[in-house]
Amino acid sequence: MAEDGAGNGTEYDVVVIGGGPGGYVCAIRCGQLGLKVACVEGRGALGGTCLNVGCIPSKALLHASELVHEAEGNFAKMGITAKEVSVDVPKMLEYKDGVITANTQGIEFLFKKNKVDYVKGWGEIASATEVKVGDQTLKTKNIVIATGSEPASLPGVEVDEERVVTSTGALELKSVPKKLVVIGAGVIGLELGSVWARLGAEVSVIEFLDVITPGQDGEVQKHFQRILKKQGIDFVMGAAVQKVEKLKTKLKVHYQTRKDEKDHEMDADVVLLATGRRPYTEGLGLDAVGVETEKGMVKTDDHWRTNVAGIWAIGDVIAGPMLAHKAEDEGMAVANEIAGQHGHVNYGVIPGVIYTAPEVASVGQTEDELKEAGRKYKIGKFPFMANGRAKANFASEGFVKLLADAETDRILGCHVIGPAAGDLIHEVCVAMEFGASAEDLAMTCHAHPTFSEAMREAALACGDGAIHA
Ligand code: NAI
Repeated sequence: MAEDGAGNGTEYDVVVIGGGPGGYVCAIRCGQLGLKVACVEGRGALGGTCLNVGCIPSKALLHASELVHEAEGNFAKMGITAKEVSVDVPKMLEYKDGVITANTQGIEFLFKKNKVDYVKGWGEIASATEVKVGDQTLKTKNIVIATGSEPASLPGVEVDEERVVTSTGALELKSVPKKLVVIGAGVIGLELGSVWARLGAEVSVIEFLDVITPGQDGEVQKHFQRILKKQGIDFVMGAAVQKVEKLKTKLKVHYQTRKDEKDHEMDADVVLLATGRRPYTEGLGLDAVGVETEKGMVKTDDHWRTNVAGIWAIGDVIAGPMLAHKAEDEGMAVANEIAGQHGHVNYGVIPGVIYTAPEVASVGQTEDELKEAGRKYKIGKFPFMANGRAKANFASEGFVKLLADAETDRILGCHVIGPAAGDLIHEVCVAMEFGASAEDLAMTCHAHPTFSEAMREAALACGDGAIHA
């Protein structure tokens, strides 16, 4: 159903299918560029996975659980005494839901401000110029597919979102499980695993590979896993989960380890399936209009055009990292292309952040990638242990690792594990966009005392040496 009488009879320049970070940003930018635009969304709220069942709600729970941890772990050390800290899970979920509503309603306001028609319902592409939503047909010159992704399934694991959950159900658990088994040591498994661990669950992570967070810098992976172990999270590495058996009062997770090729089992109260996500294209009608896909992803050229003229695609549904900010960038870029301007996304400078405590953030190439490419590089490393602000805040675990070209000193990558890493990484993103050298960063005055001084010190370490290490 269209809001404010939008939809029927209107000839659009652009109809965006999907109101997540890719789709809603694209629609807003189209509105700003003077295009007549509608955004079709079926879940009843804008913001997609990110705002409704992903990034935003998980960050609310991460924040709340980190405060619990801070109170339990560090208050006494600072001379703060409080009555015993207790957790009211339903109240915490209420707080999280309030955060979601505030954010999704914010997008509705932005749609009105930018003259975007919000069409409620599931969209189906009827032709290159028509999108069907329920019993209405939207006529348009361009269609942008921004339908996102959904959790990938695993044979033998039947998700019910109560006892066997994906990230969606893990944000809705009514109480703290006694034992949580996480399948997959990727971003989702570790972020949500650490939320429930901090709230008191015993957490075991079963991971197929021998390393956690595939694709991260190897040194960060090892250090990160050590920190998580110290926080009480248990890891079974090199193990493939084969089945989750649902018994009356508990779950039995069956897995096989590569080393001994033996079958093992582990009991759980709740199992979190976090083995990746897959593009969501159900009911879109791609086959009928002949839009090509590859491994379930919509195939596009470098400028987000599918093989059907006038149909574009962005975000999780196409190739590349499944990250909200990557989708947003593509959303803005494709709007520019449709408006006849130039759209650009620098895929070499897309930061990745894992919102655990401490956070993990990275941008550019890893040391392993540079080695493989045969590139000569230098490393500037600085530990948070030597950063005054981090020490004062009991947040001195981790380090900054800056990688620069051995000859030109140009920054090639940065990998951070430590306090506020997800914010700190952006100074390197900006530096890389400007083709900066490590010396450029080292010569930039950084306020004292801040965590960001560790970034400068790592840059100094690429040259004549860090001052405080
Ligand atoms: P992931 O791809 O990051 O990690 C999945 C892990 O599961 C891998 O380490 C894989 O080896 C393991 N695995 C696969 N099959 C297995 C099996 N049978 N037994 C044991 N382990 C198995 O996927 P994840 O964490 O589900 O995240 C999905 C997507 O969502 C990712 O693209 C991620 O980047 C994105 N995301 C990003 C966030 C952020 O930027 N902070 C937060 C949440 C999700």
